[in-house]
Amino acid sequence: MTKSENKKLWGGRFSEASSGITERISESISYESRLYKQDIKGSMTHARMLKKIGILTQGELDDIIKGLSQIQLEIESGDFQFRVSLEDIHMNIESALTDRIGEAGKKLHTARSRNDQIALDLRLYLREESGITKSMLTELVLLIAEIASKHTDIVMPGYTHLQIAQPVRFSHHILVYAWQLLRDIERLSGVIKACNIMPLGVGSLSGVNYKNDRQFLKDELGFEKITENSMDTVSNRDFVLDFLYFASVLGMHFSRLCEELVLWSTSEFNFIKLADKVTTGSSIMPQKRNPDVAELIRGKTGRLYGNLFSLLTSLKGLPLTYNRDLQEDKEPLFDSIDTVKLSIEGIHEMLSSMKINRERMTAQIYSNFSTATDLADYLVKKGVPFRESHEIIGSVVQYCEKDNADFFKLPLEKLKEFSDKFSEDIIEILNPEKSTERKESEGGTSTGEVVKQIDSIKKLIKEL
Ligand code: ARG
Repeated sequence: MTKSENKKLWGGRFSEASSGITERISESISYESRLYKQDIKGSMTHARMLKKIGILTQGELDDIIKGLSQIQLEIESGDFQFRVSLEDIHMNIESALTDRIGEAGKKLHTARSRNDQIALDLRLYLREESGITKSMLTELVLLIAEIASKHTDIVMPGYTHLQIAQPVRFSHHILVYAWQLLRDIERLSGVIKACNIMPLGVGSLSGVNYKNDRQFLKDELGFEKITENSMDTVSNRDFVLDFLYFASVLGMHFSRLCEELVLWSTSEFNFIKLADKVTTGSSIMPQKRNPDVAELIRGKTGRLYGNLFSLLTSLKGLPLTYNRDLQEDKEPLFDSIDTVKLSIEGIHEMLSSMKINRERMTAQIYSNFSTATDLADYLVKKGVPFRESHEIIGSVVQYCEKDNADFFKLPLEKLKEFSDKFSEDIIEILNPEKSTERKESEGGTSTGEVVKQIDSIKKLIKEL
């Protein structure tokens, strides 16, 4: 195995170079390079603080800022060479800085450790990514609200146990996903809050031997407050777990939505048609149109849960304070961030392009006795105790099944055989399309309540 010829920044006390396997196990730069912006921003702010407390001269500060800006440009134009032998983002950038500006670069790491540096980079990065994710989710909620408000007139079967239960408005059904996402957004706001505490300046674990100015760092970096225990600061990854939990719940919600999109687009349900651009064909069966995007997003829930469990397990039983195990936080986090953003885009594309088959949805409410509860309540309103009316309607259903009679077209004389309380007005009650309008209870599926829901979702979005 080749040994690196690159001198380590911590090389002083070592007489032997790292072995190849040590480098390969230790390195994080292969996935951590995405933190370059946050690392540079943190270093610039740290340097300004060092100047403020008299550790750097103005000239040294100027050189550091210039050097770091130059490195940022090189990274963004693809000209920067990240080196595995330099292990992580911090040492890659610091070493490049010293190569470019000389002596002043060697002073940058005064009063700082990679332990507080990574805690900062990660919080800055996650705060930004959570903000982006939050606006993507907000867009998705607005899309669902828009689909709902365009289709308030469609009635479809509502299910329990995946058996037709009662008629509902399609808008009512689809808005469930908006409510789920609103709760996800709330959890994400909690992640942002957890990220918003400034860790830099605690050193490796106990504080630093300088009267540094952490309030200055906090203000410059736009944090709400500073961490108050140096040891907690370098060992805490709860804010990462918060995101991974948020992502797991979101994944679970997405998997339920995707499952419905898959079911609804089957020929058996035929409630929706997914657009060609979000479906794929089969290499052997020429007729196939498969809902792969929905299936993949449903499947990705597995990795979102896995990422949460991966970090929970890495953190379990760690003694205070920093342990290298903590480096294992990044790949699960990055994967969950990428997966969440990819999934939001996929769901957005599917929902915005799907065709809703209103005829089929409405036709299906005429099966499986979807207004049986309405009929039972009809008798209750005529003075029959609910348990009794439940029993009576049960016998009506049994009769229809035995005699193959159409429940929705039962003549009044027939119904009267089951109860003398039935009269002409029963026609209204049997009509499943009218059933939804009777669900006037707050949060019910009547048009009025659905419209109210859409308004309150829009209002909640504005308040975010
Ligand atoms: N790459 C490390 C991490 O992600 C940075 C901190 C390294 N600290 C150390 N003492 N080796 O956690």
